[in-house]
Amino acid sequence: MNSPCERDPLAASISAVTPELENLFSFLRFPSVSTDSRHAGDVRLCAEWLIAKLAAMGLRTELHETPKHPVVIARNEHLAGRRTVLIYGHYDVQPVDPLALWSSDPFQPEIREGKIWARGATDNKGQMMAHVLGVEKTLRENGKLPVNLIFLFEGEEEIGSPSLPAFLLEHRDALRCDVIAISDTGMVAPGVPTLGYGLRGIACCEVILRGPKGDLHSGLFGGAVANPAAAVARLVSSLHGLDGRVMVDGFYDAVRPLEAWEREMWAKVPGVSDEDFLQVTGSPGLFGEPGYTSAERTWARPTAEVNGIGSGYQGEGSKTVLPAEAFAKLSFRLVPDQSPQVVMEQVKRHLERHCPPGVDIEVQVGHDGKPYVADPHSKFGLAAQAALRRSFGAEPVLIREGGSIPIVQTFRDTLGVDTLLLGLALSDAQIHAPNENFPVANFEAGIRLNQALLAELAR
Ligand code: BES
Ligand code: ZN
Repeated sequence: MNSPCERDPLAASISAVTPELENLFSFLRFPSVSTDSRHAGDVRLCAEWLIAKLAAMGLRTELHETPKHPVVIARNEHLAGRRTVLIYGHYDVQPVDPLALWSSDPFQPEIREGKIWARGATDNKGQMMAHVLGVEKTLRENGKLPVNLIFLFEGEEEIGSPSLPAFLLEHRDALRCDVIAISDTGMVAPGVPTLGYGLRGIACCEVILRGPKGDLHSGLFGGAVANPAAAVARLVSSLHGLDGRVMVDGFYDAVRPLEAWEREMWAKVPGVSDEDFLQVTGSPGLFGEPGYTSAERTWARPTAEVNGIGSGYQGEGSKTVLPAEAFAKLSFRLVPDQSPQVVMEQVKRHLERHCPPGVDIEVQVGHDGKPYVADPHSKFGLAAQAALRRSFGAEPVLIREGGSIPIVQTFRDTLGVDTLLLGLALSDAQIHAPNENFPVANFEAGIRLNQALLAELAR
């Protein structure tokens, strides 16, 4: 594959856009898909491009090898007596398939309707580059930063950050800081500054059901042996009650109840009403645990999801086959104080107990991450709110997040510090899906936000 610079037919047309956007476009052109080993070289090239960018800004850079994709570190000159702020981001992206549903090439960013369209535009390259360019602008304007800064960028977030926990332990002293800031979360509505103070955790697995030694004629053998496709359907449907509650024994035991002040506060947050959820998702109806709003269900309640399911004939027309195998890919979103390991044990027990007769079951445990919640009114939480207020000219809203950034709780466990989640991702950003996009306005606001944040955190 050519390097992104060689296959850059847009170079001429984007010269009309700002230098900031040109930087982001170059970053977005790397197909740094971390899960796909065919893209390992692109992930590395992206890391090297970042190193060059950060070095050109006058920062001291380090590229660290890991068992998979490199970690990029950059810092300014640290002075005694100043706050140390660590800014985290990830330069890897999710796969682009189904490619046919994209309106333009996912790795050739375009601006249409005031938005940047590309894989990673919001998650996380656009938000991350806003941090980088905010720092660049402050350095250009003031010659220095108000804080000791550590940039920590990884290339494995979308595959569960397998290398980063060990990296943090190994480099704990070099990464000592007072607070961490991340722009990799949601913004409830355009122009509404949003501080996240919680993230859900996650536990993933794949269940495989095996029946006959090979596919069978369903007329000759159907009715005599168990059908793995039917069995996986039954198994998956055992996960939820008809009312939407998760039926895994013990699943809710460690769940910390929602606090009254949160429910009251969230009821006033714009852009997250049940009607908004219907509109954004295009679903014909809402469904979930009784007794909670959509925002509460996604931000503060645990859930079980089927991310993929497969078996049997998928082609045109019919084929009378009794498939030999079936699988389902499952993930469980967790809230404080659930433990991913405990939940996965509960899930395994549930799947084994509910597996229909006549098939063998295998459960492959996948990656996981702990849930996180912090006090949005802490000293640094208030500083983040002040920065949001200043850069958006509006009162920030405080939310928790349905998504997961597993390293955030690991930061707390390893470095002993909390993380400020300064989200710029809109609900229609299509992250992880075709036609991912990021408003140019959010990108520009992110640059201003970074400048205000470092100033506020320095106080
Ligand atoms: N940036 C997202 C998480 C996110 C998005 C949080 C929007 C809140 C609002 C992150 O890159 C992501 O997708 N995380 C994965 C983690 C998983 C692969 C371990 C997720 O949540 O599915
Ligand atoms: Zn993501």
